[in-house]
Amino acid sequence: MPPFSSFQDEIYLHGLLTGEAPPFGTDPAGLEDAARERMSPEAYGYVAGGAGTGATMRANRAAFGRRALVPRMLRDVGVRDLSCTLFGTRLPAPLLLAPVGVMSIVHPDAEPAAARAAAGLGLPTVLSTASSTTLEEVAEASGDGPRWFQLYWPKDRDVTVSLLQRARAAGYTALVVTLDTWLLGWRPRDLDRAHLPFLRRIGIANYLSDPAFLAGLAKPVEEDPLAAVAHWAGMFADPTKTWEDLAFLREHWDGPIVLKGVLHPDDARRARDAGMDGVVVSNHGGRQVDGAVAALDALPAVAGAVGEEITVLFDSGVRTGSDILKALALGARAVLVGRPYVHGLALGGEAGVRHVLRCLLAEFDLSLALTGHTGPTGLDPGLLAPPLPG
Ligand SMILES: Cc1cc2nc3c(=O)[nH]c(=O)nc-3n(C[C@H](O)[C@H](O)[C@H](O)COP(=O)(O)O)c2cc1C
Repeated sequence: MPPFSSFQDEIYLHGLLTGEAPPFGTDPAGLEDAARERMSPEAYGYVAGGAGTGATMRANRAAFGRRALVPRMLRDVGVRDLSCTLFGTRLPAPLLLAPVGVMSIVHPDAEPAAARAAAGLGLPTVLSTASSTTLEEVAEASGDGPRWFQLYWPKDRDVTVSLLQRARAAGYTALVVTLDTWLLGWRPRDLDRAHLPFLRRIGIANYLSDPAFLAGLAKPVEEDPLAAVAHWAGMFADPTKTWEDLAFLREHWDGPIVLKGVLHPDDARRARDAGMDGVVVSNHGGRQVDGAVAALDALPAVAGAVGEEITVLFDSGVRTGSDILKALALGARAVLVGRPYVHGLALGGEAGVRHVLRCLLAEFDLSLALTGHTGPTGLDPGLLAPPLPG
């Protein structure tokens, strides 16, 4: 397989032969601007919005900006291997698609298009419970591609078990349990438009197709859609959950379990002690707690606490290949990309997502090589200059 960096040669060569620029831009900020033009104001607000003043989103990016790579020279980086192994599965690169719900608001092809793009590159899709298409449809779209299921852990035990069984049956191998969204964060962009997709029955396909969920309705969904939405709202999440409850998930899921939204090393230790297989250091892209710690700033302590024992993954603020490199240097085994691939989806469906992923992979490959490395293993904080203040 040609190196991921060859995407660059492909772009230049195609330009030389045809005079054409690539169909989508390669700069993440430019891609977001272009995607914004293609989305309704409500959809863009939902994707771009953060909690409160947006301080956490800004902090996520600032934390990357405060850290600088220190390239090393003359180290033979001619042949590179970007692959990594997560839970026994070999992946071509340490990159996954973060769970993002309600994608049909940005493009009609929604989650299946993103899953096809990921599968085409061999990267795992982490499918959201709040997907606008059912987990079975997305599994079909991803074919042989690796796939994980993200659980918004419902209050209702029967629905929880049913979702887990369906995910297992559809070939999802790892379970990602999101811990930071028992309640929805305060999001002014959505509040000011009184816009919450779920109440319009977007992003609840996995519930509306679930036998255990449907068993709790007095009438079929079409006869009383409001009652179905109310039933969903009543069970979406349970803020009374504690560490002890994780035993229930262990009992009903026999594959790896990863807790998403861990920012404190003590919580990472508790995850390990509860028999969990990994954590995602994440603040949900700044969508939940305004003024929360930047995920990248939380990463070194979490990796230091449990990185030798369980798998530490990372998301929140990854926009470039260099960002991936920085997160790996600070202790992540792999990173999840969120908003950038949603921008790709908005711009061009599957092709747009594929483009964004190829850009990230190419830039990651080039950044690795240009800093004197041949792969993701063995990267350490020595790759970075001491962080700049503030
Ligand atoms: C529009 C949108 C929807 C999201 N939906 C989910 C979700 O359903 N489940 C989940 O665990 N995280 C969800 N997330 C959070 C992402 O998984 C990830 O943590 C976040 O996008 C990382 O931040 P970044 O996109 O700024 O890099 C969502 C994020 C966005 C932007």
